[in-house]
Amino acid sequence: MGTSTSTSMKRIGVVGSGIMGSGVAEVAAKSGFEVVLRSRTRDCADAMLTGLDASLARQVKKGRLEEDDAALVRGRVSAVTAVDELSACELVLESIVEDLAAKQDLFRELDRVCAPGAILATNTSTLPVVDMAMVTQRPDRVCGIHFFNPATAMSLVEVVPAITTSDATLDEARGFVAACGKTAVTVKDQAGFVVNALLFPYLNNAVRLFDAGVASRDDIDTAMKGGCNFPMGPLELLDLVGLDTSLAILDALYAEFRDANFAPAPLLRRMVAAERLGRKSGAGFYDYQR
Ligand SMILES: NC(=O)c1ccc[n+]([C@@H]2O[C@H](COP(=O)([O-])OP(=O)(O)OC[C@H]3O[C@@H](n4cnc5c(N)ncnc54)[C@H](O)[C@@H]3O)[C@@H](O)[C@H]2O)c1
Repeated sequence: MGTSTSTSMKRIGVVGSGIMGSGVAEVAAKSGFEVVLRSRTRDCADAMLTGLDASLARQVKKGRLEEDDAALVRGRVSAVTAVDELSACELVLESIVEDLAAKQDLFRELDRVCAPGAILATNTSTLPVVDMAMVTQRPDRVCGIHFFNPATAMSLVEVVPAITTSDATLDEARGFVAACGKTAVTVKDQAGFVVNALLFPYLNNAVRLFDAGVASRDDIDTAMKGGCNFPMGPLELLDLVGLDTSLAILDALYAEFRDANFAPAPLLRRMVAAERLGRKSGAGFYDYQR
């Protein structure tokens, strides 16, 4: 278990208890931070704590974590519903729905609640960080801190300074990432940063191939695993990311670059309309037992 040695921060906030919020909360707590996780409803907050308990229990069972350490990690996480309870956090990372208006509303609220020196960060995959910075009174203290899915397993984090972000904020954000045991790369505030700008045309084109009947779902995934040595096929990966989030990412990339490679495959939009969102909804390109 890590300790937060490369930063003076002790308490961080995470907003949103979906796939990414839950993962980041676990990573930060295992790295020694006190974590205040904010969900909109008590049910979601409780579900996040139940999920954390289950994840820690699995790691203890597999011998990857001592029982005492699991208890320490669990003791560091509190789940709240009021944004005001984030007021003592030195850094707050939002991980809510990939929707600019929703994120801007949240940044206004965080700006009101958090100490003036606190860093407000976004886990956005594609949205302009500057558009969140500029709704606050502290655009120099806002940046992107983009974890990957699953946050507990993936080593990379993209740190994204907006053009308003100060050098001190960037350094502190990178210190937080290092303290979480992750590798930071610094990337300009441009849609998709590095990883998604390269990954999403590929995922999008896999949906087009599938829709055109060029190969079956299983054969497309088998081809990319066997032919490129990728651990997952593109359709499996879309299900893991979430088709709604993937659609939002492609829409944002297309809005920024107007490049046809980013224009979402029509099938993707239809699947989201049908609420086939991937693993999180129980069905996407594949079916999952809930
Ligand atoms: N899924 C991925 O692979 C991945 C990877 C890296 C970053 N991200 C980014 O992380 C963020 C969250 O993605 P996720 O995959 O965890 O999504 P998710 O659908 O699992 O969770 C989204 C959370 O946002 C909450 N929410 C929805 N509307 C809201 C609103 N108006 N105000 C406050 N909360 C609201 C939901 O209740 C849910 O808890 C997005 O910005 C996404 O782009 C996702």
